[in-house]
Amino acid sequence: MTITYKDADGIAGMRLAGRLAAEVLDYLTPFVVPGVTTNALDKLAHDYIVDVQGGIPAPLNYRGGGKIPYPKSICTSVNHQVCHGIPNDKQLKKGDVVNIDVTVIKNSWHGDTSRMFIVGEGSIAAKRLCSITYEAMWHGIQMVKPGIHLGDIGHAIQRFAEGQGYSVVREFCGHGIGQVFHEEPQVLHYGRPGTLEMLREGMTFTIEPMINAGRKEIKDGPEKDGWTIVTADRSLSAQWEHTVLVTPTGYEVLTLSAGSPPAPAFVAEAFVPASPAIA
Ligand code: MF3
Ligand code: CO
Ligand code: CO
Repeated sequence: MTITYKDADGIAGMRLAGRLAAEVLDYLTPFVVPGVTTNALDKLAHDYIVDVQGGIPAPLNYRGGGKIPYPKSICTSVNHQVCHGIPNDKQLKKGDVVNIDVTVIKNSWHGDTSRMFIVGEGSIAAKRLCSITYEAMWHGIQMVKPGIHLGDIGHAIQRFAEGQGYSVVREFCGHGIGQVFHEEPQVLHYGRPGTLEMLREGMTFTIEPMINAGRKEIKDGPEKDGWTIVTADRSLSAQWEHTVLVTPTGYEVLTLSAGSPPAPAFVAEAFVPASPAIA
């Protein structure tokens, strides 16, 4: 497998898939309240993607390397779950922190994005972890332009997150994305400046740091479902994800929608594209 560089048609396809993925998160937002089950959120997302957007939920039946097919249409990772939590019939309760990760296939192109949700009123610790993780993602995003290296992105994320007293999960990374869900390159959320692949115009990949309040180590969840990953020390974990395009001068975030939280103040204005018009 090699890195794919998108032409104008590919970029148009990625823009649409990306916006649709973000709009699924917008649609789900008012439903993320105490008492809702993650299965209910999964059904809402599935039906919205299929019936309203005319798309396909990429996770459903997805097989990672040698894994059992993923059984649901979104990932919902609660509290100390790091990623790939499988929706179930347990109700969310006040104070839970939940990552909802949505990947939509539209016209064969993939858009992949996730956000954190705090159910009802959250603790100061939960709010801080979610907002620092959001900033960590943007520290990575704002590095993106032709000529920099993937190690520059990882370093920016790691330096910021560790500087805030948190740790960066090593075992999962961002990824190239296009007509394939997970393609080259791997986008590590830690690293050294100037190392790894050089970015070129037309690359599309995700930046999706998983940040732990405690230690970086992870393990398989007690569910033994083949997917759910938890922190080894049971500390809270957060994640945000955007899909980005490398443009001639910088980047374009492909997974923005009307409901996307604004970029942090430190992000250079010139590099933030205008919010896409919502028809
Ligand atoms: N959306 C996840 C990512 O960001 C991948 C989920 S794979 C699944 O790469 F099968 F668990 F859905
Ligand atoms: Co994702
Ligand atoms: Co991803």
